[in-house]
Amino acid sequence: MSCSDTLSPACGCAAAAVNAPRRRIIRIAAAGFAAPLALVTRPAAAVVAGDRLVEEDAEGAPAPLRVSDLKPGKPLLAYPFDPKRGARRDETRLNKIVLIRLPEAEMTPETRARSAGGVLAYSAICTHQGCDVKTWLAKEKALVCFCHSSKFALLDGGTVVGGPASRALPAVALALDGDQLVLAGAFSAPPGGSAA
Ligand code: FES
Repeated sequence: MSCSDTLSPACGCAAAAVNAPRRRIIRIAAAGFAAPLALVTRPAAAVVAGDRLVEEDAEGAPAPLRVSDLKPGKPLLAYPFDPKRGARRDETRLNKIVLIRLPEAEMTPETRARSAGGVLAYSAICTHQGCDVKTWLAKEKALVCFCHSSKFALLDGGTVVGGPASRALPAVALALDGDQLVLAGAFSAPPGGSAA
């Protein structure tokens, strides 16, 4: 009797054939446990002063964003860009930033101090449950999250002016290098939703 015509446990090859699917099952099960663990140990945001900004969907070697790339009152989603490596700072979604160009005269003094060329930068992750916030309501002068309608006053430090969010959108100070937008510091508070 050869190993090719039996699955007898006495045969080493047959045992290997029987055990291989078991090992696959164990590996799949392990992967299933690993995924939720990866979710609960989410990476921290990593924003570094001096970083440039590139559009959210930019690929290859994108040009850093300039003030002139922003239309007044039109939010733009961006990621920090490490100019030394020529790559995004980090792939974590918590690094996503919403940029918006607004009238400096309408900003509170503290908010104006963080702006550059009339552009403001905030975390794009809603502090309620972590949806993207990217819609500007010009009449209400607020950025709205469409998941549960939280609203944030970007002219006044990103404070909550509506909906269930309980804390302001974390802000990032901006500076200019010519017309190019540069991050001047880290987030004012950890970005992310209470259940994100
Ligand atoms: S996730 Fe934004 S309001 Fe709920």
